[in-house]
Amino acid sequence: MDTFDWKNLPFGYIKTDQNIRCHFKDGKWGKLEASSSEYINIHIAATGLHYGQEAFEGLKAYMGKDGKIRLFRWEENAKRMIFSAGGVKMAPVPVEMFREALFQAVKLNIKFVPPYGSGASLYIRPLLYGSGPEVGVKPADEYTFIVFVTPVGPYFKGGIKPVNMLICRDVDRAAPLGTGIFKVGGNYAASLRALITAKEGGYASTIFLDAKEKKFIDECGPANFFGIKDNTYITPKSESILNSITNMSLIRIAESLGMKTERRRVPVEELSEFIETGACGTAAVISPIGKIVDPDKNMIYEYCKDGMPGKASMKLYNKLVGIQNGDEPDEFGWTTIVE
Ligand code: PLP
Ligand code: COI
Repeated sequence: MDTFDWKNLPFGYIKTDQNIRCHFKDGKWGKLEASSSEYINIHIAATGLHYGQEAFEGLKAYMGKDGKIRLFRWEENAKRMIFSAGGVKMAPVPVEMFREALFQAVKLNIKFVPPYGSGASLYIRPLLYGSGPEVGVKPADEYTFIVFVTPVGPYFKGGIKPVNMLICRDVDRAAPLGTGIFKVGGNYAASLRALITAKEGGYASTIFLDAKEKKFIDECGPANFFGIKDNTYITPKSESILNSITNMSLIRIAESLGMKTERRRVPVEELSEFIETGACGTAAVISPIGKIVDPDKNMIYEYCKDGMPGKASMKLYNKLVGIQNGDEPDEFGWTTIVE
């Protein structure tokens, strides 16, 4: 596909050739089917529409210098989708079916996998929703699973260039015993008010605090948060954030690079002690944070004052992206080649 300006792709939707679908009915999953339609025919009383009985995933396929396409830790996405399905009482998608759907979706859209070195990748979006009709609040009897792919560039403009974040104290995306740990659509709907406020103020995203006390960092919109100090990678432990596969990987990478790691509650005031901070996730990769503004407390925390990402963030980024692209040895066994 030489019609795309691969190096300047936004993180957005681009139509590809085919997507994969599967239906759960009468207590069992049917066969995977490929479709060239971008639309679904949905029952007007589907629980996914009315009661947010829905979950999704996000992972990427990367073209290597060797011409091989790699998926990064897809089993973790499969497990998390099962976990999210349990969180909103949906029929889980078996791991093998999930794998087959991903591989088929990538293979049917090979020409949309961005070339090696473009900085872009093929984003894979598995989606599961209650498609059976109910009017009372209860789980549906029928489910639909879809996997579509779309080529994407960096989520935050500028890629590895530092971005600014706004601390949000007047909106919660998730409650401690709510659905924050599941990747369900409702969490993202709940985040929109805060996100729009942040965007209107010129920020890349919002930083949510713990909903109960507003004392600790939760996460950065659609990405986890990390801070670096004393050669230590520190990331929040919270019962209302999504457990990021990227973050989990960065913890292992940081350890392998000789850094210490801590996963614990991170008080807001600790922002003044970090020498680097960043957002991490499949879409965000590592987005270094230049400035965090806490308007209610009249505080501004600044990092990357030279406009460049910090040294530790850069080392982590290079190693992670190197493994994903196949430039670095896959020492943790994280990638699967799409044959
Ligand atoms: N937090 C939220 C709310 C997300 O939507 C995502 C993206 O999936 C992440 C964190 C990062 O998770 P992962 O690294 O598994 O993509
Ligand atoms: C991802 O990083 O894959 C995400 O799902 C973030 C997103 C909601 C765009």
